[in-house]
Amino acid sequence: MQIHRTIESLRSARAGAGRTAFVPTMGNLHDGHIALMRQAAGHADSVVASIFVNRLQFGQGEDFEHYPRTFAADCERLAAAGVAHLFAPDEAVMYPQPQSYHVDPAPTHVSVLEGECRPGHFRGVATVVLKLLNIVQPELALFGKKDYQQLMVLRNMVRELALPVEVLAGETVRAGDGLALSSRNGYLSAEERVRAPLLYRLLCHIRSAVASGERDLAKLEAEAMAQLEGAGWQPDYVAVRRRADLQPPADEDDALVVLAAARLGRTRLIDNLEI
Ligand code: PAJ
Repeated sequence: MQIHRTIESLRSARAGAGRTAFVPTMGNLHDGHIALMRQAAGHADSVVASIFVNRLQFGQGEDFEHYPRTFAADCERLAAAGVAHLFAPDEAVMYPQPQSYHVDPAPTHVSVLEGECRPGHFRGVATVVLKLLNIVQPELALFGKKDYQQLMVLRNMVRELALPVEVLAGETVRAGDGLALSSRNGYLSAEERVRAPLLYRLLCHIRSAVASGERDLAKLEAEAMAQLEGAGWQPDYVAVRRRADLQPPADEDDALVVLAAARLGRTRLIDNLEI
């Protein structure tokens, strides 16, 4: 695997690489990231990954400084997964002129759920992903459903800005007890890690209730919030939404997803399940 620190180096390697699939990450790679790399390899001649902890998408008081950085181990995992090129720029390469250009996603897409809880987050995500896509110029780009709203925002950006790239989604990879894999799981204490699968269990309960005809979504959401609070979590939201735009569903909508975000101790976890 070749490691590229500059745009020029990545670009010249990319030129002869054939049909290219691109998987952007912030590193600290786990099996969820690696599943995306393998899925990418199945659709392309060559896979490009990136590792860049994007300061722009972290809010004040969030974990930018403490975000786990495990570059050497990440490189081993990427090489073993058949990734041909890793783009790992520093901030001066990605943001030579901080506070200059930004991409603002559609207001209706960022005024709900994660966008509401983390103002500016998706602006930071859209800005870095547009720049990475311009640098790598892949035919395909892959994102995980684990970050469902991120996937929705980025699909919309690609469509609205007519970017010449196809977006593919990867299924959420989970631990044996159901907890969605996340770089932030490493923040959990041993005791919190045992309690963490409650979030997934509540999503499963809502999925089966809706699938078997329950239509009082507000009641299901409120019950799950109360259960999280009762178990010592601080939930931000539990919400059943339309998949396409993450707005509250109308009676006739049937493509739904249930999403949740909650803090367990100092760790903020998010998860979702399509219904
Ligand atoms: P990061 O959190 O490192 O995730 C990189 C990619 O892996 C994202 O597409 C994410 O949805 C996916 N992913 C994370 N956990 C997963 C899991 N358990 N199963 C399947 N896929 C999973 O998301 C980001 O980085 C950043 O916002 C980024 C898009 C790189 C922009 O900075």
